[in-house]
Amino acid sequence: MKLIAALASALLLAASGPALADPIVVKFSHVVAEATPKGQGALKFKEVAEKLLPGKVQVQVFPSSQLFGDAKEMEALLLGDVQIIAPSLSKFSRYTKKLQLFDLPFLFDDIAAVDRFQSGPQGKALLDSMQSKGIKGLGYWHNGMKQLSSDKDKLVRPEDVKGLKFRIQQSDVLEAQFRALGANPQKMAFSEVYQALQTGVVDGQENTWSNIYSQKFFEVQKTIAETNHGVIDYMVITNAGWWNKLPADVRDGLSKAMAEATAHANKLAQELNERDMKRIAEAGKAKIQKLSKDDVAAWRKAMHPVWKKFEGDIGADLIQAAQKSNK
Ligand code: LMR
Repeated sequence: MKLIAALASALLLAASGPALADPIVVKFSHVVAEATPKGQGALKFKEVAEKLLPGKVQVQVFPSSQLFGDAKEMEALLLGDVQIIAPSLSKFSRYTKKLQLFDLPFLFDDIAAVDRFQSGPQGKALLDSMQSKGIKGLGYWHNGMKQLSSDKDKLVRPEDVKGLKFRIQQSDVLEAQFRALGANPQKMAFSEVYQALQTGVVDGQENTWSNIYSQKFFEVQKTIAETNHGVIDYMVITNAGWWNKLPADVRDGLSKAMAEATAHANKLAQELNERDMKRIAEAGKAKIQKLSKDDVAAWRKAMHPVWKKFEGDIGADLIQAAQKSNK
């Protein structure tokens, strides 16, 4: 009797086919709002990945530091608590000094130049520069050029920031940049910036129009100078061990989804930054300070000593290749 029952249940199992495996959950965590280039790129990745791999993957996107903020996201990636993150290129110095390149002030003329460098051989090679640390670069996503803001009326020349406190990302290059201006830089997680500006813990910050708008920094700053003095761009990264162990078809589908998401985010970046600059101007809270060529040259000159300081860490060859991408 027992044998018959066992046989029957074996037959039943065989008839119902292999048990459907649970989808692979891919957590994608980032620190910005959804209405930004990175926010939109992450949502596109989810849409395309789930379309290409129906039932096989589930992508969960966590914006606005909801899952992990700046302080924890790298460790979380290495521990396997999150599978994809896209930190700004300023936040990698614990893992490689090479990416400090992107923080050198006035290195790139615009995002098109950044794009040319990233698509070239040196830029592509940097995606693999953290393999030995277990980090794999999947691509670069653009945000935009940085603008400088403060809670003072006057922000035209480098002298205007002397003695002021500025929030910076986790970057020694950016620290040196503000020191070169005679200002006081303070490293701080992105999620804490609004409050620090509002309460006067810091006087100013540097960021793209889309971040300044979506984080409402313009509501707690008096002046935003259109300096375009640096870039905020991202490397989308994953845990190399996790990635390499994925079934080949899943890895392939995720790679395709990443390529589409990259194209989408990079196409939107300029448009969203222009839109948000207009929105800030229309809100009429912070003044947008246009700068003359002469003013920009003064900022460039004041910040330039930073290049020499980091040339050894970054490599003169990389700096030269980046300069060549300016047209
Ligand atoms: C910042 O920390 O200011 C930005 O890098 C945040 C981001 O991811 O754009």
